Amino acid sequence: MALFKKKQNHEISLSDIQLPEHIGIIMDGNGRWAKKRGLPRSAGHTAGAQTFRKIARYCSDIGIKYLTVYAFSTENWRRPKEEVNALMRLFKDYLQEAIRDFKDDSIVLRFIGNRNAFSPELLSLMNENEEESCEREGMVLNIAMNYGGRAELVTAIQDIAKQVENGALKPDEIDETLVSDHLYTKGQPDPDLIIRPSGENRTSNFLLWQSAYAEYVIMDVLWPDFTQQDLDRALIEYAKRNRRFGGV
Ligand code: FPP
Repeated sequence: MALFKKKQNHEISLSDIQLPEHIGIIMDGNGRWAKKRGLPRSAGHTAGAQTFRKIARYCSDIGIKYLTVYAFSTENWRRPKEEVNALMRLFKDYLQEAIRDFKDDSIVLRFIGNRNAFSPELLSLMNENEEESCEREGMVLNIAMNYGGRAELVTAIQDIAKQVENGALKPDEIDETLVSDHLYTKGQPDPDLIIRPSGENRTSNFLLWQSAYAEYVIMDVLWPDFTQQDLDRALIEYAKRNRRFGGV
């Protein structure tokens, strides 16, 4: 278990602090990482994918129950075709390996986002990974692909409106639980902690509804450089905060 040197050499172990049940990570900074090295942006994504594997496994090792990573947003299609294609290739390679890679860790894989836009090949790999891992009992790993918080809410509102239209539901029966139950994360706890590396202070359309009471930790490190120690730092920062959920 990782140890931290605080000022005056006091050490904090992760076993001494309260860990979040659900962590969200906006894996940001791949492009800048590549640019700094004179490499194409796709090289940053490849390096980011390696970091993602390490950090996902580490979260599972330390007992995190849910991890949601932002891999591709509904807005990312606007990037140059070359970069989008490189990302799709990366997802395909990753998903081919993930089926066996995460087996020993008992990680359950879920994909959140609108799947209609993906190739049939990628789609079947997503389905295969979900089917293969659904009986496992370890950490749930949600990979947000073609995900947008607003689009997720629009889909939920459309579903709920249809139920009202066909008489299955009355408007005053719509409450927060019902809305949550129409999101991709149905049945999962809301994220307690959202980590955003690369220093940007934005939510970028990530888990808009679910993050209502999440603690944000913004870190000045680019995602490909993000280490287990950075995650530990975020966990310690989270543990120091006093979450009041709007109360006093
Ligand atoms: C944001 O950085 C990152 C992305 C849009 C892609 C994230 C994807 C990965 C880390 C690949 C791994 C994922 C899986 C599931 C294999 P950016 O490109 O916006 O960086 P910048 O802000 O520095 O330009």
